[in-house]
Amino acid sequence: MRVHVALTPADFAGLLLDGRAALVVDVLRATTTVVAACAAGCARIVPVSDRDSALTTAARYPAGEVLLAGERGGRTIVGFHLGNSPLEYVAERVAGRTVVFTTTNGTDAMLHAGRATVAATAALVNAGAAARWAIDQERDLTVLCAGERRAFSLEDAVCAGIVVERILAEHGSVDLTDAALAALRLGEHYRDRLERLALESEWGRNLARQGRGADLEACLRLAASPIVPVFEAGVIVPGPRSPRTAGAAR
Ligand code: MLT
Repeated sequence: MRVHVALTPADFAGLLLDGRAALVVDVLRATTTVVAACAAGCARIVPVSDRDSALTTAARYPAGEVLLAGERGGRTIVGFHLGNSPLEYVAERVAGRTVVFTTTNGTDAMLHAGRATVAATAALVNAGAAARWAIDQERDLTVLCAGERRAFSLEDAVCAGIVVERILAEHGSVDLTDAALAALRLGEHYRDRLERLALESEWGRNLARQGRGADLEACLRLAASPIVPVFEAGVIVPGPRSPRTAGAAR
């Protein structure tokens, strides 16, 4: 199993994803939000690139079943039902609903990841389960880090590295590209001090300035969610809660 980590969106265009598995990571906050939405019973999340696409896509669903969700610059898009805080995605709001979703960086990365033969969503809250999902695909893996306005984001690379570390712990033979090894080393450094990312990551500091301390706490923690949202024809759905991913090791 060969593992690559695309550390910035600038790498995405050149990625060969045919035949491969992909994991998309946007720890602050889009993929953490997707895991939260699926845990709350959301039927599906439809990632789109911009506000107009969101409005057009939402029109294809029965009005009572669809929610417009997303942010720009971390703030909820005016007129949308939900922003991009994982804490908003509770069963009362999203259970059984379709969420049409657009964010500053995360949804573009999701659209790229969806080009892979199989793809799923990873964050710190489900890193162990995401690693097990990747192993179960028995394919080479590319982890796509959403980054921050096309540049490197520390928290996404750390999360990718923690997923790589979990794969190495479980899988006998794994080859890492240099970028995957770099991410692994960052994951090893931050794994036991994830809260420091709130201060040391640029987007973490931005969210703190916006008063999003509760989001930082919800996103920057290694939980053991067994949920691995997977892509089906460009739409993200709650993945199978397989016994292998349930209670995945932290
Ligand atoms: C992103 O898409 O880069 C982030 O999810 C933005 C945010 O924190 O809402």
